[in-house]
Amino acid sequence: MAYTTLKKALIGALVISASSVTFAADEKKATMTGASADMLSNTCAGCHGTYGASAGPATPSLGGISSEYFQETMAGFASGDIKSTIMGRIAQGYSEEEIALMADYFSKQKYVPAKQSFDEALAKKGAKLHDKYCEKCHAEGGSSAEDDSGILAGQLIPYLRYTLADYKAGDREMTKKMKKKVNKLMQKEGDAGFEALFNYYASQQ
Ligand code: HEC
Ligand code: HEC
Repeated sequence: MAYTTLKKALIGALVISASSVTFAADEKKATMTGASADMLSNTCAGCHGTYGASAGPATPSLGGISSEYFQETMAGFASGDIKSTIMGRIAQGYSEEEIALMADYFSKQKYVPAKQSFDEALAKKGAKLHDKYCEKCHAEGGSSAEDDSGILAGQLIPYLRYTLADYKAGDREMTKKMKKKVNKLMQKEGDAGFEALFNYYASQQ
């Protein structure tokens, strides 16, 4: 609960711009069929940064994301299967073709890990926990987009924290296998284990 409130407060300021973005997207659909991937993706830059390198604490970076994961996540936002603060409204403004175009665009951008501070000791502990619980699907220390599982390395700590909180609360569904590992980590290490993981992902810059 606390996380959700904090998350809302953090990105509350962005909601205003999100509404105008949604409006612009609707307008585009009506008036600009044939918009290029570049043009479409420009509307995302205010929050996700130019070329998909995140510009805000609760916003993930998109550059280098897998095309499949991008399309599935956008569909999940649009249908409401993946709970979101902002993306649900935005995702509904685009056609499947437009989303496929943007998926292609972002997957071809270079992933830019966020510059942020982290705790060295926690990062060390997190590296070990990552290998044990997460590396199997989030390969290369969570920096690989393979397996369509989302990039973890270099994402901003608040985004990782909110996302895990959403998963644990059931607001976003984990695959069965990921759930097993997340539960096991929770049992053995508690919240401190997750904080260590977040610091490890933050340390990859
Ligand atoms: C007003 C800010 C804002 C704008 C504009 C915005 N996003 Fe987002 N995006 C977010 C936030 C915040 C999240 C985290 C989910 C949530 O709470 O909505 C997110 C999550 C995502 C994710 C999930 C990434 C992951 O790693 O799981 C994708 C994909 C995405 N956005 C695509 C887009 C695209 C494409 C556009 C432009 C058409 C866009 N976003 C515009 C704020 C924004
Ligand atoms: C069996 C495979 C598997 C394992 C193990 C696994 N994950 Fe995942 N993870 C996935 C898949 C697939 C997705 C993308 C689908 C989804 O939205 O759930 C994902 C998505 C995520 C996301 C969202 C990424 C984003 O950009 O929003 C986070 C955060 C995450 N995993 C953290 C973890 C952590 C931490 C661990 C270890 C404790 C872990 N995962 C273990 C398969 C796995």
